[in-house]
Amino acid sequence: MSLPAQVRIVEVGPRDGLQNEKTIIAAADKIELINRLSDTGLRSIEATSFVSPKWVPQLADAAEVYAGIRRRDGVAYPVLVPNLQGYERARAVGATEVAVFSAASEAFNRKNINASIDESIERFLPILERAAADGVKVRGYVSTVLGCPYQGEVAVADVVRVARRMHTLGCYEVSLGDTIGIGTPGKARAMLRAVAGEVPMAALAVHFHDTRGQALANILACLEEGVAVVDAAISGTGGCPYAPGASGNVASEDVVYMLEGMGIGTGVDLAKLVDTGRWLASRLGRASGSKVTLAAH
Ligand code: HMG
Ligand code: MG
Repeated sequence: MSLPAQVRIVEVGPRDGLQNEKTIIAAADKIELINRLSDTGLRSIEATSFVSPKWVPQLADAAEVYAGIRRRDGVAYPVLVPNLQGYERARAVGATEVAVFSAASEAFNRKNINASIDESIERFLPILERAAADGVKVRGYVSTVLGCPYQGEVAVADVVRVARRMHTLGCYEVSLGDTIGIGTPGKARAMLRAVAGEVPMAALAVHFHDTRGQALANILACLEEGVAVVDAAISGTGGCPYAPGASGNVASEDVVYMLEGMGIGTGVDLAKLVDTGRWLASRLGRASGSKVTLAAH
């Protein structure tokens, strides 16, 4: 067991979180959220998503939000793009990092982006080409790595194939998503180990939704395998609108608490994060999804 000394947290709340909240908050609040997160020490904040506004109305204001944020030196602000049209919208407001996404399950991909796995990868090719020419970094997501809401079991070999393809095509990092929070630590570990046989561990991240309360345990198992990048969402917000039952991502506050408690550095100021999570929960009109925030007085 060799735990990493430092972990980079990729804060996905403004995108993965807000894309699936019932309450749609104003663009000004989204901007304030990202600005507050920028002051916590986070180095990577996924700001929004340039997908079809018909598919995800919650983030229809992506351009306004991205153009309004204060971009801090040393912090990356990736945005999700499903196709070249999304890439162009993102570039028009100055995005310098994008994330493309596909899944290990054909059935999920069809529901989420109306395309097969191979078709979705075809759509990335021009994005990757343009990004290379523009000096834009590209992150990749593989969804449904531990199970699919439509097809059920997902073969580890399918996860490996899609992750390897994304990495080979030029994604600097591939985030492995348990979209519906169905995995348990043994399965998460075995899946990560298999992918790391084909893609360097340094280019991998893990992305757990906490639907069944397994996310922190899964993260710990993956840290023991050597992963050092963890996606999380402030206040445990979100889910995927095309994955029935997908509850929020693991709460960033809880991940920071666990990591710092284990002596693993995150560079994140937990008190500021808790404050921001509490503020966001009040804007959303609901309790925070972070246990650490609920426990803090
Ligand atoms: P489609 O309907 O097959 O696309 O959707 P189309 O190419 O036929 O276009 C239909 C309409 O959408 C056209 O407009 C296009 O212009 C427009 P119309 O002519 O009807 O007025 N359009 C766009 N508009 C703005 N921005 C764009 C864009 N593209 C097309 N980029 C499409 C295909 C991919 C667009 C759609 O399915 C889509 O946007 N899906 C996104 C779904 C989504 O965002 N899901 C959540 C994110 S993934 C996730 O959460 C998982 C993750 O967190 C990891 C994990 O947890 O596992 C990443
Ligand atoms: Mg997600």
